[in-house]
Amino acid sequence: MAIKFLSLYDHIMDDGYILKKTEKSLPLKWYYDQQQFDHEISKIWTDEWFYVIHESALADPLSFVTVEVSKYNIILLKDRDGNINSYFNTCSHRGSILQKDSSGRLKSNLLVCPYHQWSYNASNGDLVRTTSINDPKDFNKESKCLTKVNLKIWNGLIFINLNNKAEWDAESVFVDYSSAFLKLNVGDYKLGHTWKKNIQCNWKIFWENYSECLHCPNLHPELSDLVPIYGRRLVDIKDDPDWERLIDNPDPKFQGGMREGVQTWSMDGSAQGHKDQYLESMNDFPGYIYMTSWPSVFIAIFTDHIRMVRVLPISNDETEITAEWLFREATLNDPNYDKKNVIDFAVLVMKQDGEACELNQKGVYNPVREAGTLMPEEYEIKRFHDWLKSKI
Ligand code: FES
Ligand SMILES: [Fe+2]
Repeated sequence: MAIKFLSLYDHIMDDGYILKKTEKSLPLKWYYDQQQFDHEISKIWTDEWFYVIHESALADPLSFVTVEVSKYNIILLKDRDGNINSYFNTCSHRGSILQKDSSGRLKSNLLVCPYHQWSYNASNGDLVRTTSINDPKDFNKESKCLTKVNLKIWNGLIFINLNNKAEWDAESVFVDYSSAFLKLNVGDYKLGHTWKKNIQCNWKIFWENYSECLHCPNLHPELSDLVPIYGRRLVDIKDDPDWERLIDNPDPKFQGGMREGVQTWSMDGSAQGHKDQYLESMNDFPGYIYMTSWPSVFIAIFTDHIRMVRVLPISNDETEITAEWLFREATLNDPNYDKKNVIDFAVLVMKQDGEACELNQKGVYNPVREAGTLMPEEYEIKRFHDWLKSKI
């Protein structure tokens, strides 16, 4: 049973990932040093695909969203013809931001600069007109178009890459790609709710917290009750060095998966009659599948919904977290389905994690030691650190 559960993830090793010895964590300075932060922005955030939004958030023509990554600012919009385009959010006149709101609707198929009203074609970024009394002969309109940003829509998920030469490869964008995801037709899901929170921590602290469960029983009593193995500070049967002894013990405390009777991650554990047929037909579905795409997003797949959690660095000690809840249309339209049941549960857990991340950040400035220590269960953090170091 456990073996099947592990087989959801193609990368898992036969003897698990648990670290055989302690490992040095990153230098504490890397969590606040401005130079280090700038280096990570230029080596990682301007070279990797990062997630922006589910396609259904740009359902209407002329709708737009903007995103910020450190000091970069990008606009994504759906034009009059229904095409989704992405541009750096900068006017080519003297550099003003074109759209300051985080989301909204354009009045027409034009992006109009709020400063001196140069206007651009939303479909291709071409400069349509300036506001000068006349454009001098040497003025080359063609060279003043907006700068496009590399964009990929994959199964309804919109990713961008600030490197225009980057090519898309789903299996390398996700470090724990699960082919089950493709069977769900996530492009047909609809956005049911969005929640945002800025947490006062470096972006890497968010990912480290996400990558381990040593904190689970203490910080997440409700989640540890739902997923009993988390109560043992573990995420997988093979995190216990003695796992072979436990292989035939069906208790989810050892095997992973959810407590008897629980159907989804919700306040009361119920999926309110909205189970996914494909997931339920998998005999190894433990009730949740996680997919991670460093540096920007994790996807949590449940029988009645999917939660996307996007991570964007604002500064060296501030990170924006945005969660989106996606539902099948029938679920969202069912008056008897209360989406608050899953939303409230996840917000509770994300707030608990946010507080832990802020505590972690507050402690890193003291001149105590060069770096922290990773313990055996923190193998996923080691994997994150190895990935990070390979990029910078
Ligand atoms: S800066 Fe945009 S029109 Fe002047
Ligand atoms: Fe947590």
